[in-house]
Amino acid sequence: MRALDEELQDVADHYRWFARVEAAPVSPAYAGLAAAVADDADVLDFLGTLPKLKRQANLLLAALTFLHRSPPADGAQLHDRVVGDPERLRATMLARGTQTNEAARCSALLPLLADLPGPLALIEVGASAGLCLYPDRYGYEYDGVRVGPPSAVQLRCTTTGRGPVPSGVPHVVRRAGIDLNPLDPADPEDVDWLRALIWPGMVGRRERLDAAAAIAAREPADLVRGDLLERLPEVVAGMPADSTVVVFHTAVLPYLDAAARDDFVALVTDLPVRWISQEGPGVLPDVAARLPELPDAGENRFLLARDGEPLAWTRPHGGQLDWLPAAARLA
Ligand SMILES: C[S@@+](CC[C@H](N)C(=O)[O-])C[C@H]1O[C@@H](n2cnc3c(N)ncnc32)[C@H](O)[C@@H]1O
Repeated sequence: MRALDEELQDVADHYRWFARVEAAPVSPAYAGLAAAVADDADVLDFLGTLPKLKRQANLLLAALTFLHRSPPADGAQLHDRVVGDPERLRATMLARGTQTNEAARCSALLPLLADLPGPLALIEVGASAGLCLYPDRYGYEYDGVRVGPPSAVQLRCTTTGRGPVPSGVPHVVRRAGIDLNPLDPADPEDVDWLRALIWPGMVGRRERLDAAAAIAAREPADLVRGDLLERLPEVVAGMPADSTVVVFHTAVLPYLDAAARDDFVALVTDLPVRWISQEGPGVLPDVAARLPELPDAGENRFLLARDGEPLAWTRPHGGQLDWLPAAARLA
């Protein structure tokens, strides 16, 4: 391969990291495709024509899947698709974002929500299509024990350690989301984009997305367009007075720069709300600093915290909760 300039070398490194750390454990097909991109100078050149934030592996692979109705079969097909019609691909990557919406993340949120005094008013910042705003509409199985209503969305979760396993779902009186670009769960094109964001090999995710989108479309949440820092105070102010207002977010803070993340933490801790975060440990350093020990750098896990107190490690797309010792007092 010809020598790359430093900027494209960074892009290649990102694709190698994505292949090894993010994709390999759950989607070998995407790991192979991302590794192929890292060695394909033409595809890297194409990525170099995009703004830095638009070069992500997740976005490229979703856009190719969206435009061709299926992921590339291998690196050679990916190459042909990119060089064959770069303009349409560029337009899709510029117009769309990585707004993956995974209802299964509710299996980690539910135990902390059910432990709060109800009724609850839920506000999700970075909500995408708002599919995590329906924790009370999904059914769960924690280590084989069923919880929640009968539902077309069934979320299985394995736990380790001692934590607050719920006996039921909370009473939710209001659901609101804030997003720079809210997606409409009733819009077939938006749902197609969400499907394209699902990695091949991740069993059950597509069916879960369709079932969760149908639930959300039947009972629409208030999805507000705008920046979470700007819109949060007014959305909090609009919540019913006799409810516990919960602000939560999962897989959102990496989209903010460090200063905006600090501003968000200052804002959310100042508002009359409870705060639940489910994010990679690197984006909330003050929360991670309260951990008994840091995980291996190579591990891709989310840290679940309430009001800034770390309580569990979770799997990024749901299904696993490893309680930290601090969670035992909630059990
Ligand atoms: C990866 S998605 C996560 C969606 C959802 N929280 C979930 O876990 O399934 C991140 C979302 O955050 C939104 N987002 C990023 N920065 C934002 C900001 N400053 N204000 C509001 N939303 C933002 C994006 O538009 C996107 O929909």
